[in-house]
Amino acid sequence: MESKRRYTITSALPYTNGKIHIGHLAGAYIPADIYARFKRETDNDVAYICGSDEHGVAISIRAKKEKKTPKEIIDKYHDLIKKSFSDFGISFDNYSRTSSKIHHETASEFFKFLESKKVFEIKDSKQLYDPKENQFLADRFVEGECPHCGFEHAYGDQCENCGSSLSPEDLINPISKISGSKPIEKETKHWYLPLGNYEEFLKEWFLEGKKNTAKTNVYGQVKSWVDQGLESRAITRDLDWGIPVPSEDGKGKVLYVWFDAPIGYISSTKEWAERENKNWEPYWKDKNTKLVHFIGKDNIVFHCIIFPIILKAHGEYILPENVPANEFLNLEGNKFSTSKNWAIWLDEFLMDFPGMQDSLRYTLTVNAPETKDNDFTWKDFQARNNNELVATFGNFINRVFVLTHKYFDGSVPENNGLNDIDLEVLKKTYEYPKLISESLDNFKFRQAVSLLIDLSRLGNKYLADEEPWKLYKSGELERVKQIMFVSLQVCGMLAILSHPFLPNASKKIKEIINLKETKWTEINIDNPILNSQNKINKPELIFRKIEDEEIENQVEKLKG
Ligand code: 2FM
Ligand code: ZN
Repeated sequence: MESKRRYTITSALPYTNGKIHIGHLAGAYIPADIYARFKRETDNDVAYICGSDEHGVAISIRAKKEKKTPKEIIDKYHDLIKKSFSDFGISFDNYSRTSSKIHHETASEFFKFLESKKVFEIKDSKQLYDPKENQFLADRFVEGECPHCGFEHAYGDQCENCGSSLSPEDLINPISKISGSKPIEKETKHWYLPLGNYEEFLKEWFLEGKKNTAKTNVYGQVKSWVDQGLESRAITRDLDWGIPVPSEDGKGKVLYVWFDAPIGYISSTKEWAERENKNWEPYWKDKNTKLVHFIGKDNIVFHCIIFPIILKAHGEYILPENVPANEFLNLEGNKFSTSKNWAIWLDEFLMDFPGMQDSLRYTLTVNAPETKDNDFTWKDFQARNNNELVATFGNFINRVFVLTHKYFDGSVPENNGLNDIDLEVLKKTYEYPKLISESLDNFKFRQAVSLLIDLSRLGNKYLADEEPWKLYKSGELERVKQIMFVSLQVCGMLAILSHPFLPNASKKIKEIINLKETKWTEINIDNPILNSQNKINKPELIFRKIEDEEIENQVEKLKG
């Protein structure tokens, strides 16, 4: 197991134009949180960074819809989103916002530095303009048909159907989202990032360098982008909401949200370092730091092409080690849709299933859209919870605790010589930290969490085979001690290894068995996790069963 490295781990900054649903959680937050917790448990120096993405047209559109100012919108949703993340145990070291002073300064400095290095092209060009509203139609202010896949509601910057990156003038039959009118063209000046100049860099750094480590879905997307040829992308906009372009000719213009947002990872790291009295720079500039971006697939181009080019053009920064993007999660066979309210909002989930965050975290991990789009169904959620968490994991732990109380009044028995079967179970148990670590190091979260359940299956099978209850009845107390000793080690291991996936359950079990914080790197088969000093408290249930009626209500709520 690797240890003592520095990791800068990021989750995509969510737009503060709405609440968070479980699709968001599955894509960029749960895997990142598992990874960050795992890296901390294996004794690394971790900065897990995120924050609210508060610029861009998405915010302005929401403000118009709610008849509020953009500032009111970002304040409202920043608070709601931050709370949801905290409720679900997403263990950010810092959660910042791009409206903060430190971010405006950092992004402006970045732009100025790149401008001074003559990185940008500055050009006048004709752009779509809404004559009724007297406004240029950037990004999501304009919609039309995607020239690549024919999807009718492609945005001016991206088609959410096929993932293509677009410019407003690429759209067929564009329509202003503000007034509904047909746009005209008008000339304006903008700063462009000449992506084409970096083709060789991308080929070498990513297509060659990441051939064996990038996820295939990510690699394929980047390759097809590079193969198509990269065009210059405007990184400024004629909008009134965003970071003002810090240049003489920049009046009335702001930085493109996708220029400033990834720099938000850096400013959030600075904010954290300031608070913690640390130096932020090694987290972004030391060659030995591993930078890992967790995102959904619609963000691949920005994290594997555009942001790395920005970092490379600057010259002082490290590049991402990996960008383990997930595919999309669907809900009961359909895409998540805020406008159709086809979603499970995190705050509502918690109202209906209080205290059941781990059950959702588990389902979203074991069923993660890791290599292809996947579907969340309420029935599957119930089955996963009831069969795997309650009947397998929880049942094993509970049985061991109840028996330990019944036979030994909650004390961990002495280990007076183990037989071959016991030793085999112990040996297998102590292999799990390595097995789970390997899966997580390869970003195989489904496999990792399945291994955890396998470990509890191993424990269940051992108990069922050895039948300590029969031996207890027939007075073979020494043998019962051995079996319970081994079973308790499996419980201890489950308590430790479940931490990244099921942080609440892990904490509860550790409290019950009075287990002090144990790093995965400290686990050693010669030094049992539990010994006679670990008194087992009165057991309490770790997970609860979900009834059919609860699931029927949820399906009705969704479909209604
Ligand atoms: O797609 C989104 O929701 C964006 N707000 C993600 C931004 S990630 C970043 F780079 F900041
Ligand atoms: Zn398309």
